[in-house]
Amino acid sequence: MDITKTIEWQKEDNGGFSRMIDQSVIPYEFKKVDIKTSKDMYHAIKTMIVRGAPAIGIAGAHAVVLGAIENRKSPNFYEDVKKTADYLISCRPTAVNLSWAINKQIDLIKENKEKSNDEIIELLVQNAVKMENDDIEINKKIGDYGSSIVPKGAGILTHCNAGALATVGYGTALGVIRSAYQKDNTIKVYADETRPRQQGARLTTFELTKDNIDTTLITDGMGAYFMKKGMINVTITGADRIALNGDSANKIGTYMIAIASKYHNIPFYIAAPKSTIDPNIKTGDEIKIEYRDTNEVSIINDKPICTDKVKILNPAFDVTPNGLIDGIITEYGIFKPKDLYKLFE
Ligand code: MRU
Repeated sequence: MDITKTIEWQKEDNGGFSRMIDQSVIPYEFKKVDIKTSKDMYHAIKTMIVRGAPAIGIAGAHAVVLGAIENRKSPNFYEDVKKTADYLISCRPTAVNLSWAINKQIDLIKENKEKSNDEIIELLVQNAVKMENDDIEINKKIGDYGSSIVPKGAGILTHCNAGALATVGYGTALGVIRSAYQKDNTIKVYADETRPRQQGARLTTFELTKDNIDTTLITDGMGAYFMKKGMINVTITGADRIALNGDSANKIGTYMIAIASKYHNIPFYIAAPKSTIDPNIKTGDEIKIEYRDTNEVSIINDKPICTDKVKILNPAFDVTPNGLIDGIITEYGIFKPKDLYKLFE
């Protein structure tokens, strides 16, 4: 499979800028946008031009480089770049990859304080590019480990988009599907629509059909029906933040399909890199859930779908308790939720 990076640093003499696939317009359009300021990066993350936990992690790493370039001449370089970093972290609070990647860049500045700002900017660029390349390698490892849990000819349910578009390339849950497909091209994927932003319908089906993987679009409420009919043999999703006990935050609706999977004795797996595991939180109760603009729920095709008198809630994520998860597929192997802590020993 050819890998077009979802997000990629463009080097220039002055440091450079970030170039990314605009995910907000797929499948109507496929275009890249250039992000040249930290403010524009905040906007790109908030409005989901770039989305998916690992991809927004890289966007955060790029944002720190942009913040550093903007403050190149500042006598308070570290403090000013840190301010930009904190502002960026607040933008999408659930996906831990954002703060993970931003903090890695901030630590790099701290460790190299004796160097000139120009030299630090060069180091930040190198680190951001390394993170991009590492992300693809990590996803391929996740794919290799994960393909072992996909039965021959399996029907696989996935939710949201945990694919190449949600990462720099290859994908986590869809990385597992891609690797499984290389071994067995008779697998079938059921991608649910994923209300309200429709990442499943718009992005997952776009990616998988491009790779000729047999893909069927269903709406969010159909999963249990197809499980009952015996069409789904395994459920695989990504994650945005995983607590040390394995409780996993992912796109709203994941909890519901995990419950339905358990009821039908269908294994439920999470595929995610180690950077999505937050060793600082013991359980999912500590995960902050992002609530987004209610227009995402009430407006479809620029038209309201309900009266303006109704109240609306729009949590972007839910937390699947560890008891519903059969395994967490990482670049270090597949872990039972109770064994996840071993990755941090
Ligand atoms: O709101 P989004 O589209 O950024 O949410 C993304 C998801 O929930 C993905 O399933 C998750 O980040 C895993 S991405 C590899």
